[in-house]
Amino acid sequence: MSGFFVSFEGIDGAGKSTHIARLADALRGQGHVVTLTREPGGTPLAEQLRALVLAEKMDALTEALLVFAARRDHLQTVIEPALVRGEAVLCDRYTDASYAYQGGGRGLDLEVLAALERWVQAMPETNKLRQPDLTLWFDLAPEQAAERLAGARAPDKFEAEPVAFFRRVADGYARRAAQDPQRFTRLDAAQSREAVWAELLTAVRRKGWLT
Ligand code: TYD
Repeated sequence: MSGFFVSFEGIDGAGKSTHIARLADALRGQGHVVTLTREPGGTPLAEQLRALVLAEKMDALTEALLVFAARRDHLQTVIEPALVRGEAVLCDRYTDASYAYQGGGRGLDLEVLAALERWVQAMPETNKLRQPDLTLWFDLAPEQAAERLAGARAPDKFEAEPVAFFRRVADGYARRAAQDPQRFTRLDAAQSREAVWAELLTAVRRKGWLT
């Protein structure tokens, strides 16, 4: 019995958070053991790196090195062991966010990201990289996301970026989705919460993880 790995992606304000919690409940309701986690973060060390990345000014490569360092610790101490135990791993963001934010948003060379990805996500026994089995991409126009974020809690370093930054992030997600259409499910996040949830459920049921 091996577990499965679902990542949740999208620009800030696209509305992934409520759906992650709801999917965790639905899976638990059908007998799955769920590990609910996030990136950057998910371990004590990675949470410290997250605090730095979200608050301190730094260049794009430094940012990428820190998120991948966090990812390494998270993979080794949380994600891989949970998958071995046969659990459902739900992760709020993963490597697609590095391609979207550091690659798209900051303009970092995608080859650098690909190299880090190969180092950090290598699975020695199979010669493959650890990738999610399913990525739920909450796709929303940056202008709409900005409206939703306005008036919410105090913005972190990324949330304070202008709409033009999020346009580049959104383009980064779109490119990544086009490269791996099997793994990605695009959810139209402009819809009502219930309509987004219905689309999400369809994708998860198609995988056979929920009836
Ligand atoms: P987010 O997931 O939006 O959490 P919250 O809901 O608490 O705001 O915040 C994480 C931020 O980190 C988000 O703005 C995207 C950014 N990020 C990167 O820039 N690169 C990465 O590789 C990851 C995982 C996240």
